[in-house]
Amino acid sequence: MARKRKGLITERQLITLESPRSPITEQYRTLRTNIQFASVDAELKTILVTSTGPGEGKSTTIANLAIVFAQQGKNVLLVDTDLRKPTVHYTFALNNVRGLTTILTKQSTLQEAVNQTDIENLSILLSGPIPPNPAELIGSLAMENFIEEAKTLYDVILFDTPPVLAVTDAQILSNKCDGTILVVASGSTEIDAAIKSRDLLNSSKAKLLGTVLNKIKADNSQYYYYYGQKN
Ligand SMILES: Nc1ncnc2c1ncn2[C@@H]1O[C@H](COP(=O)(O)OP(=O)(O)OP(=O)(O)O)[C@@H](O)[C@H]1O
Ligand SMILES: [Mg+2]
Repeated sequence: MARKRKGLITERQLITLESPRSPITEQYRTLRTNIQFASVDAELKTILVTSTGPGEGKSTTIANLAIVFAQQGKNVLLVDTDLRKPTVHYTFALNNVRGLTTILTKQSTLQEAVNQTDIENLSILLSGPIPPNPAELIGSLAMENFIEEAKTLYDVILFDTPPVLAVTDAQILSNKCDGTILVVASGSTEIDAAIKSRDLLNSSKAKLLGTVLNKIKADNSQYYYYYGQKN
């Protein structure tokens, strides 16, 4: 069932919206801070989030990261560049009719395809209809033009992607982004797979900012409460 909160309908529970003062939300704010400090000289405007394999938490991480950037007053665009298994429309309960693929194939403009949300400063570009040739679209000149246009309109552009070891899309896109974050799932991501993903991203000259350790069992986190209150 769709969840409605302050006018915003989301299918997936987004902790940064539901519980702004929880220790987990604080971790997303820490991630935001770490990204902002990751590059002192070069501006980090386009950031890609990926992982080694499926289901490790890319889409969850990027949706919450988009929200904490928006809450900081940054003008944020979240783009669903997982053209294989897009989920951002599901997370934000939007209709995936227009999006990145309709822009890249010149069926719509960015202004026509973008969704405004009830979250101040957060805009969302869905994948659009799934194309037969995702890697080709992501590697296209049209994609580069789209990124350049988006950079003129937004402070931060976040790209959700498919897994690095499954398909080449994230590797191709990482080369066009200012920074890449690798999500690894505690207890399930194989170390060898993480190393291979890192090597693949490095080989495409991605600027790997770091990793997010996701899905940690939260049974030993009292110290997080030291500076704040629950919820
Ligand atoms: N930190 C977390 N704690 C608990 N559940 C999580 C966490 N992160 C992700 N999940 C859950 O794990 C599942 C997979 O997460 P998500 O869709 O974000 O992964 P993904 O890497 O984007 O997957 P895919 O490869 O299919 O795109 C979802 O059901 C999500 O709710
Ligand atoms: Mg995903």
